[in-house]
Amino acid sequence: MNAQHSTTLRVVDLQKHFRRQKGSNVAAVNGVSLDIEPGTMVAVLGPSGSGKTTLLRCIAGLETPTGGEIWSGDLLLSSGDRGVIVPPEKRNFGMMFQTYAVWPHMTVFGNVAYPLKVRGMGKAEIQERVTEILRIVGIGHLRDEYPANVSGGQQQRVALARCLVSDPKVILFDEPLSNVDAKVREELRVELLAMHKRLGFAGVYVTHDQEEAMVISDRIVVMNEGKVVQADTPQQVYRRPTTRFVASFIGTANMFDGRVRAGGPQPGIITVSTKVGDIFVASDNFPPELRAEGTQVTVLARPEGLSVAAERPSTTPDATVLQGMLRAEMFRGSHSELLIELGGQIVRVRNSQGHALVEGHDVFVIAMSRSLYVLPGSGESIVQSGEVTA
Ligand SMILES: Nc1ncnc2c1ncn2[C@@H]1O[C@H](COP(=O)(O)OP(=O)(O)OP(=O)(O)O)[C@@H](O)[C@H]1O
Ligand SMILES: [Mg+2]
Repeated sequence: MNAQHSTTLRVVDLQKHFRRQKGSNVAAVNGVSLDIEPGTMVAVLGPSGSGKTTLLRCIAGLETPTGGEIWSGDLLLSSGDRGVIVPPEKRNFGMMFQTYAVWPHMTVFGNVAYPLKVRGMGKAEIQERVTEILRIVGIGHLRDEYPANVSGGQQQRVALARCLVSDPKVILFDEPLSNVDAKVREELRVELLAMHKRLGFAGVYVTHDQEEAMVISDRIVVMNEGKVVQADTPQQVYRRPTTRFVASFIGTANMFDGRVRAGGPQPGIITVSTKVGDIFVASDNFPPELRAEGTQVTVLARPEGLSVAAERPSTTPDATVLQGMLRAEMFRGSHSELLIELGGQIVRVRNSQGHALVEGHDVFVIAMSRSLYVLPGSGESIVQSGEVTA
């Protein structure tokens, strides 16, 4: 790697193993490498137990890694091989965790001023900085209150203000919004993003809320069983997941298993033969290594990439039409979601046009070749959350 190019935070082949009570070994973090560029927000997303918190705690210095290295710019923070371990308080990272972790015996002002006092900053400067940060975080009016007398969302704002007041280059977040209700979470998320843009800190943001990860981050790192399974922009991870696990973990995924057939209906289109019929996929959305005839693949269709019609539409070679039965329509406010039974599987289609469709009747699902994507077919079995067994 280029030594000139100093990233804010670099994790190299990090390992953290734990011993269970009965003596077995858990590879909580199993060979994770990450680069966090200055001012970027990286979301770490993954199911429960996938190693997110352990990764963050290793970066913070709260766990001693079993192997690998962590760098902050040119400074080595931890290395198993070289026996280096810099203590948490010397790492200069901000931290914000799920539990509010504000001190109950100090006022809001006292909580936020604390890190500056510890550093020996003068009174007048502390007054000024704390007042400014409380204003930015929107709790200036609560400065003399004690944490017990403010709401959960406001306590999280106190924690955020305390974290921002030292102007850290990197902030480590571990599900900071998961204890506040949905409306406040949404609000805080937007504000956090605004503050990130304004103050320019880099962040590692652990969450298992995929929507939050997509909104908040420049890059998403998806973890499973201690490993990174994909790291890319939110758009790429959503549109071009590399595995079935990622496809089903992020967003709603309709997946059709099949094999590649020779000869598409027109150049630039590849046919996949599946249980529900032939599906035509644009070759741009077909990874080259999967294009050989007979390859087992999975066709991914997002709900918004499909449309429905009550009558069989006239087809073009870049459209696949599949006949199914409308099982249910779920109203979601801005749109509705149609559950359509297709060859024994339930397919979810976003219906934003408000078609008059009748439950229990035949419908036609239309998939344009460009809105589909292809993944390797073999491997993990997946359980999709909220799957409907009709
Ligand atoms: N101190 C520990 N001792 C033994 N095993 C541990 C310890 N801490 C974590 N683990 C194990 O390591 C694995 C990863 O845990 P971790 O807390 O990092 O997961 P997570 O992705 O943060 O999950 P969640 O979304 O539930 O917070 C789990 O199997 C967990 O049981
Ligand atoms: Mg965790």
